[in-house]
Amino acid sequence: MRTFPDGFLWGAATSAYQIEGSPEADGKGESTWDRFAHLSGTIVDGSTGDVACDHYRRWQEDVTVMADLGLKAYRFSVSWPRIQPTGRGPANSAGLDFYGRLVDGLLEAGIEPVVTLDHWDLPLALEDGGGWTERTTAAAFADYAAIVAGRLGDRVRRWITHNEPWVVAHRGYLDGTKPPGRTDGAAKVLASHHLLLSHGLAVPAIRAAVPDGEVGITLNLSPVVAASDDPADRDAARRFDGDLNRWYLDPLSGFGYPPDVVGDYSAAGWLPAGLDFVHDGDLDTIEAPTDFLGINYYERHIMRSVQAVEPVEVEIPADAEITEMGWEVYPRGLADILVRVYHEYRPSKIYVTENGCSYLDAPGPDGAIHDERRVRFLDGHLAAAGDAIDAGVPLGGYFVWSILDNFEWTFGYTQRFGIVWVDYDTQERVLKDSALWYRDVIARNGLPAA
Ligand code: FCB
Repeated sequence: MRTFPDGFLWGAATSAYQIEGSPEADGKGESTWDRFAHLSGTIVDGSTGDVACDHYRRWQEDVTVMADLGLKAYRFSVSWPRIQPTGRGPANSAGLDFYGRLVDGLLEAGIEPVVTLDHWDLPLALEDGGGWTERTTAAAFADYAAIVAGRLGDRVRRWITHNEPWVVAHRGYLDGTKPPGRTDGAAKVLASHHLLLSHGLAVPAIRAAVPDGEVGITLNLSPVVAASDDPADRDAARRFDGDLNRWYLDPLSGFGYPPDVVGDYSAAGWLPAGLDFVHDGDLDTIEAPTDFLGINYYERHIMRSVQAVEPVEVEIPADAEITEMGWEVYPRGLADILVRVYHEYRPSKIYVTENGCSYLDAPGPDGAIHDERRVRFLDGHLAAAGDAIDAGVPLGGYFVWSILDNFEWTFGYTQRFGIVWVDYDTQERVLKDSALWYRDVIARNGLPAA
């Protein structure tokens, strides 16, 4: 049996748009996702997050499920347009009250709330003013962070500014597969800088409200390897590693933007005015000391050079096990990225803020959901996390993505990442075998013997 350090934070994660529903309740403003999901052709099954898991109304039941599993922590996101309907101006108390009740309910159940301030649902009014390509959005985010921390900071200790800024910048502004659906390399780079800047501005704002709290950011990180020794493939791997990992890790850690990636962006025509958008002092703001780094890990990337706008592609070995998303199951990659990040960047603490898999296993004749592949996936990744701890990585916790099946962005309801099944017709929740397995892991603070 493998045991984890005392106090290891066993958790699960969600995000607001993926579970809450009730898009107009209590004065909520529209978000980029509210609009995007309603455009035709954006979501594979034509669905939206309008109802999702109806968590806005059923949150008490969901807290009961979490308590039943013995979760130590629950990572959820606050929907910015519930707090400031247009992204600016006075706080909407009814929106804040919802999260206040949720936090109280969690604490009563002995579950620590971990708040993410931005999990992608930007107030639409801000997007219509340029969104993350605008520097003013960074200042607005810091104001919003101050409002939420001011209200919940007496009960919430752990704070995450952004979730996966690479996804927001790249998918939102370059490949257009997520809102705002733009396809402009210069916009992607601007967005990435303003997301980082807004993080740096939000850190002191949160600290002012929660002096004894912990503040960090969550990045989606992956090991990136070349498909062959061919120099072109190796360069493709360098480029993608730069774009995905180092463009965020370096400035957050005080190293500034990596010069080779600046060169790549410039060659791609994405820096029409050079780095003019990086004002004096911005890098100091971005490297504001944090208490932890959140890492979301799903897969590694194997790169081969191709002649295209983004001259790299992911290859999956023919014999690899893949999930319903088509992602390779590669537990070692979690240890690899944890060890690498710790050795190269020395964050004081790391949490795996997301890790999980989509499989469609449904209730069988006995009513149970035998999702053995998910159990194997989680077991393998937790073993890898344990290896990283053995190698000296200060890993403080692990959050399964996700506690519930939910609205998987452009995949709608066609993917199921939950350890708890959601019947979308009745909103019934059913624990999958993986949830029962996770309950045991938490109870024994370790993995069963192999
Ligand atoms: C991550 C997102 C999360 C979920 C998982 C599957 O990139 O942060 O919301 O969609 O992927």
